[in-house]
Amino acid sequence: MRDRIKNLLDKIEQVNIENAEQAEQFRLEFLSKKGELNNLFADFKNVLNEDKKEIGALINQLKEKGQAKYENLKEAFASNNAEEENKDDYTKPGYPYQLGALHPLMITRQSIISIFERIGFTVASGPEIEDDWHNFSALNFPENHPARDMQDTFFINEKFALRTHTSSVQVRLMENGKPPFRSLMPGRVYRNEAISARAHCFFHQVEGLYIDKNVSFADMKQTLLYFSKEMFGEQTKIRLRPSYFPFTEPSAEMDVSCFICNAKGCNVCKYSGWVEIMGCGMVDPAVLQNCGIDANQYSGFAFGMGIERIAMLKYRVNDLRLFSENDVRFLKQFQAADE
Ligand code: DAH
Repeated sequence: MRDRIKNLLDKIEQVNIENAEQAEQFRLEFLSKKGELNNLFADFKNVLNEDKKEIGALINQLKEKGQAKYENLKEAFASNNAEEENKDDYTKPGYPYQLGALHPLMITRQSIISIFERIGFTVASGPEIEDDWHNFSALNFPENHPARDMQDTFFINEKFALRTHTSSVQVRLMENGKPPFRSLMPGRVYRNEAISARAHCFFHQVEGLYIDKNVSFADMKQTLLYFSKEMFGEQTKIRLRPSYFPFTEPSAEMDVSCFICNAKGCNVCKYSGWVEIMGCGMVDPAVLQNCGIDANQYSGFAFGMGIERIAMLKYRVNDLRLFSENDVRFLKQFQAADE
């Protein structure tokens, strides 16, 4: 028995293994169920009682040596394989991997949505290529309204254009559903404008629509005040200035007290203490009727805000173009902004 153990030990130490297949062969020969080590254990019962302690210890040592050798070989060949695979593959990303981050417009969009979700608004979307009806006519735009002009709208053909605002999604929502509505509609919009620090040919809006029985202007005001405080801080005040949109009556522009200078006056609010952030109003009964909703039973409010505008104010970005240039040095700065 002692000789068998000694022989096996020599074999295990001397065996020459160069690849994964040979390592597997080694395992089968020595360590597997039918391998030599197990044979030794099987014959152990024939060992004389007084020798059992010594022989047992020797077999165990042998087993440990064999297993250690096999584990080492396995690891060596596995990492060799990985190196082999990585060699010369220049398409693999470099190490260390750069972590991505949410785009500042996405962060802003998500904060707006989550504020309104908390008071029961759901999210809806519509197509970026729209027909005249959904983008203009159903929203009460007069036939000769300047917004339909070639200067503002990217027409695709006689029938279709790129939507100039997300208000078109209001129409689709109302046409396809039944009141009450309480929805938020974020999306990209397009306008034929010269690109500058303050204007772009595409940008993003979030539209809101609330239609139910007995909805009043006071409901709108309270909803928008809640939003503004959540978005810009508890001390934020709002003010509504009379305005005009074809699809709302009455219409207003909403300003928030400047959260940068606490309304004391700075160059962001042009020393007025107020910054404009959205258009809003009570949905014109004609629009409700256009969408098949009984304006005698239902009323509601709508609002629309530019995501870029809010992100620029929040993060003090002074050039709109930065949002679409994909300069990593710019985008990286927002990684921790909302975390
Ligand atoms: N659609 C308007 C725009 O693009 C924004 C707007 C104003 C949307 C008033 C509304 C609203 O829903 O009620 O300038």
